[in-house]
Amino acid sequence: MKIGFIGTGNMSRSLGILWAERGHNVFWGSRDPNKAKSVAELAGHKTQGGTNDEAAEFGDVIFYSVRGIKPSVVLSSIDHLTGKVILDCNNRDIPEGFTYGPLMAESLAEKLAADIPKAHVVKAFNTMAQEVFELSPQPLTEHQVSVYICSDHPGAKQTAMVLAGEIGFNPVDCGPLRSARLLESLGDFIRFMIGGMNLGPYATISVKILPDALQQRLGGRQPSS
Ligand SMILES: NC(=O)c1ccc[n+]([C@@H]2O[C@H](COP(=O)([O-])OP(=O)(O)OC[C@H]3O[C@@H](n4cnc5c(N)ncnc54)[C@H](OP(=O)(O)O)[C@@H]3O)[C@@H](O)[C@H]2O)c1
Repeated sequence: MKIGFIGTGNMSRSLGILWAERGHNVFWGSRDPNKAKSVAELAGHKTQGGTNDEAAEFGDVIFYSVRGIKPSVVLSSIDHLTGKVILDCNNRDIPEGFTYGPLMAESLAEKLAADIPKAHVVKAFNTMAQEVFELSPQPLTEHQVSVYICSDHPGAKQTAMVLAGEIGFNPVDCGPLRSARLLESLGDFIRFMIGGMNLGPYATISVKILPDALQQRLGGRQPSS
């Protein structure tokens, strides 16, 4: 698969290297093409670096790691993104002292999708810190670390689920893109636990499905009044 990265920061670099190691064709874009070329040199595996426009043209899948700035501002033309899968890992800024305000009426992912209506936006990879990617793949598989994924486009979601699975994660289908409101709140929560409650960057949130109880010795679930 051809994967273009918009931005060369922590998330782009980490995921790009992991997917290049799995045999995907990776191109990093940056405001500074030399920076992108340096990342490609570090990564090896025939990866490439250049401008954000080049990365957007290159990829069938585009990883968008620029927080709060729309593709229509970052790219010279959003036509590069038509029909493509856009992976959005962004979380909102952490407020001073983790004093978050009300839940978002609209997620960053939905705002992104509104800017690029001809692309297929997927929310993914926003609920774990960069350090977790450094563990890929074996400990992630052993510990069944969830990547929560939502999108309005089933094919795009499936692509993201396969890419997550290839690097050791347990992909969890979270329904339509609207669920990004919940996933971004989950991103707020895990960062609070990591930084605010000092659990450190290897703390993650995963879904565990337990075996059914053999006996309902507590009376079982009764209709709620
Ligand atoms: N780091 C984590 O552990 C983590 C985990 C989960 C989610 N996230 C979320 O993922 C997103 C990226 O995080 P990160 O840690 O990768 O951030 P980062 O290292 O600061 O990278 C951000 C990228 O955005 C680009 N950028 C910044 N300002 C820009 C502008 N004005 N115009 C165009 N591009 C710009 C930069 O690319 P160039 O300088 O190459 O142009 C840079 O590569 C954030 O929303 C963050 O909340 C981060």
